[in-house]
Amino acid sequence: MKVTYHGHSVVTVNTGNHQLIFDPFITGNSLTDLKPEEVKADVILLTHGHNDHVGDTVEIAKRNHSLVVAPNELAVYLGWKGLNVHPMHIGGSHQFDFGKVKLTQAFHGSAYTEEDSQKIVYTGMPAGILLTVEGRTIFHAGDTGLFSDMKLIGELNHIDLAFLPIGDNFTMGPEDAKLAAEWLRAKQVVPVHYSTFPVIEQDPHAFADSLPGGVGKVLEVGESIEFK
Ligand code: NI
Ligand code: MN
Repeated sequence: MKVTYHGHSVVTVNTGNHQLIFDPFITGNSLTDLKPEEVKADVILLTHGHNDHVGDTVEIAKRNHSLVVAPNELAVYLGWKGLNVHPMHIGGSHQFDFGKVKLTQAFHGSAYTEEDSQKIVYTGMPAGILLTVEGRTIFHAGDTGLFSDMKLIGELNHIDLAFLPIGDNFTMGPEDAKLAAEWLRAKQVVPVHYSTFPVIEQDPHAFADSLPGGVGKVLEVGESIEFK
């Protein structure tokens, strides 16, 4: 299994049998190495309805006939756009053919902004996603502030790899993300959601270096972690 970072909160997981992508915000993503028209995805996993996470979901899902897994209201909204969706919600897990997904809480908002008509569409609660594939558990925290039940998530799950936002302003900054890393007890922690926009500019290496030896890992855009 190969897990690759593509800037902002975009992460792909290639299992050999399935191509998965988290939060495919590509158009407008100043950091990414992906082109929306080239993305292959059997499954799109969405943490919440903000535009910098839903991103190019509709285009990618239509072209690939992807399954879109998302919190319920966001899934319903995308279902109305003609996508094949699987709604879930916080605390619920489901065994798919590609692996197991469980949604956790996230302290954030969730709404899709339709810029043209200046409408904000409510898309339910934001979530984090626990994905277990081939015996490994990946935690994509989505956008969130720090919350102490991360300790519980860490107790209940053996997280091999966690993607945590460090950008500050909209989510945890590096200091809170350091506590989150400790509480989640993840074997490896990769910072995300930073430096895409000036207001979330951060030094990911300073964050990674602040974690106990070997835990923090900065992935450059396009760089992967492989599990054998
Ligand atoms: Ni957000
Ligand atoms: Mn965001």
